[in-house]
Amino acid sequence: MPGTCVVGLQWGDEAKGKLVDILTESHEIVVRYQGGANAGHTVVSGGETWKLSLIPSGILRDDVTCVVTGGVVLDPANVIGEIDGLEARGVRVAGKLLFSDRAHVVFPWHMAEDKTLDGSVSDGEAIGTTGRGIGPCYRDKVGRSLAIRLGDLYRNDFKQKFDHVASIKQQLVGELDAAAIYEQYMAYAERLRPLVADTTAYLLDAVEASKPVLFEGAQGALLDIDHGTFPYVTSSNSSGVGVSSGSGVPGRWINRVIGVVKAYSTRVGGGPMPTEQDNAIGEHLRQRGREYGTVTQRPRRCGWFDAVAARYTARLSGADELAVMLLDVLGGLDELKICSAYRIGGQRVTQFPAHVDDLRNAEPEFETLPGWKEELSNVRSEADLPEAARRYIARIGELLGRPVSIVSVGPDREETIRCGGGA
Ligand code: GDP
Ligand code: IMO
Ligand code: MG
Repeated sequence: MPGTCVVGLQWGDEAKGKLVDILTESHEIVVRYQGGANAGHTVVSGGETWKLSLIPSGILRDDVTCVVTGGVVLDPANVIGEIDGLEARGVRVAGKLLFSDRAHVVFPWHMAEDKTLDGSVSDGEAIGTTGRGIGPCYRDKVGRSLAIRLGDLYRNDFKQKFDHVASIKQQLVGELDAAAIYEQYMAYAERLRPLVADTTAYLLDAVEASKPVLFEGAQGALLDIDHGTFPYVTSSNSSGVGVSSGSGVPGRWINRVIGVVKAYSTRVGGGPMPTEQDNAIGEHLRQRGREYGTVTQRPRRCGWFDAVAARYTARLSGADELAVMLLDVLGGLDELKICSAYRIGGQRVTQFPAHVDDLRNAEPEFETLPGWKEELSNVRSEADLPEAARRYIARIGELLGRPVSIVSVGPDREETIRCGGGA
């Protein structure tokens, strides 16, 4: 059976990039199926660090084909910059990368709209987007009449479509140099032409031929547009439910879902985060975990592991197993806390609330576990972990109702522990 999916179960940045890089060893195709240049995935190998945004983390391996599907919103300038950056560092991209002709194209007006609208959620807290035009581009996709897909750029009537959209956008966002944007996007289109394909057909052929395909989620399930902490979410289905709609590959082909969690919680941007530690603990996690945004460099909000939230997203994403990342970051703390229930309006709640105000009012109920002092980065087997670290990951597995198959103890590929015969 061909399909494995890696999906973040928190608010993004769970170290999906590292995990995907490891798993590509046993996959031929790696697929990005939603999101856009809001993602920042880090891979560290042999002392070198790679930051990937739109291009799947599989690109670093020579025998892997990377596919960016129609569920993605594609910023051509960004993606060309990424390709150039990879090639300049000796990574072969030609012949290894495909972009869907169905992917929606991000234009400068989307970035302008993102900047203007981000501060305006009615309750006064900004979403704090990455400013990459993600929401406005998805809005145009759903609205249809102002949408431009990658395949449109190669049609004879593209100029007419462009002029129509640009004239309306001009009224919405103010002065635009439409002629210059058109010329620029025509140049991008020429550059990307050899990479554009019907990726739906490509992937259906691949899964039907039993090729091993790895789906790389972007963001995390709590940022899912339908199932996350709305409206403080991104504009795509970033939980496991997005794989099929984004890629065109039916769920029956995905036989293994790995839910990725950090050993604690982080969040970038606005919205409630019940276990946030705006104190010395949060600062400890931020410093040891180098918790600064990959895309925007914003300090990430840090807090204890939230098992109420992660159990919800593990179920929502159909996670079969868990990868617990950045466990090393917890070292040095006397005791550790895991949130196993909320108190909302005097009631004990273990179900993740649907309304953002209920989540805002949620007070976490914590379990306390012993910490450890040892550095974990040289540990390579579960048996060699300190007892307290073993207990901590076992408790996460128990609360989420899934086995932990991978534990990560450092950013490098090698700093990884495979547990109980998993992965
Ligand atoms: P992604 O968006 O889910 O791919 O995650 P990011 O790359 O945005 O953030 C994860 C960060 O943690 C990156 O800087 C990684 O290099 C780093 N990282 C990954 N695994 C580990 C780990 O086990 N320990 C530590 N200390 N850092 C890690
Ligand atoms: P990766 O793939 C963490 C957050 C933004 C903001 C909200 C909406 O690296 O895990 P958007 O620009 O998408 O409209 O912003 O979502 N966000 C992320 N947070 N990791 C990400 O991606 C994110 N992509 C978007 O900070 O709160
Ligand atoms: Mg990231």
